[in-house]
Amino acid sequence: MIRKKFIAGNWKMNKTAADGAALTAEILAAIGRETAVDVVLCPPYTALESVGRALEGQSVKLGAQNMHPEKNGAFTGEISAEMLRSLFVSYVILGHSERRTMFGDTDAFVNKKTLAALANQLKPILCVGETLAEREGGATLAVVQRQLEGGLAGVTAEQLASVVIAYEPVWAIGTGKVATTAQAQEVHAYIRELLTKLYGAPLAQKVRILYGGSMKPANAPELLAQKDIDGGLIGGAALEAKSFVELVKAAILAS
Ligand code: 13P
Repeated sequence: MIRKKFIAGNWKMNKTAADGAALTAEILAAIGRETAVDVVLCPPYTALESVGRALEGQSVKLGAQNMHPEKNGAFTGEISAEMLRSLFVSYVILGHSERRTMFGDTDAFVNKKTLAALANQLKPILCVGETLAEREGGATLAVVQRQLEGGLAGVTAEQLASVVIAYEPVWAIGTGKVATTAQAQEVHAYIRELLTKLYGAPLAQKVRILYGGSMKPANAPELLAQKDIDGGLIGGAALEAKSFVELVKAAILAS
């Protein structure tokens, strides 16, 4: 079973609308209408429209970094799935560790968002991952299991086809400390084993599982060569066209 590799840039709280459009144009100039790999750009909300316009007619897709599960209402500062859809957003990052640690996202809340995204034809990029203390305490697999099962509760087999999973060890995010390929592959294989238990092997074999955490052009080829690593969720290296394009090319080579 061949899974198409997947490279997503999570710009976090970086780039204005104008800077985002400029970065997008630079990326597109280098990769064109690449279809061997799925490529997604996730700018902040305020740059979704300008980046979306730059992506019109291209194969690179637009993603958001979060959303609220309710349809509308008194939720000051929040954005709904319908609002994202109206800006031609295809993917949404949910349960990122920065949301979990700094903004109180729980497994139950991430689950509500996941179900709301799927009900609105948005494809979730569901993030899981342990902190350094959890890894050192031997709790990595238990944490990943809790976050994965919690996030996917109520997701049907049919819906699973639209879900992308991202394993992001919290201690590797923005720190320059990349997980070793063996550490990453072990958790990726475990995630696929959990998906197999929940949904059966044929479906579990189709789900893309991305690695995130200090992924760079230098370490990407080895990570992307692992059996269960199907791509990357890129932070820092997604903020410059050169490094992001190199990552897309590494994914093409690994395909
Ligand atoms: P870095 O690539 O900057 O470590 O960030 C990873 C990440 O959190 C992507 O969502």
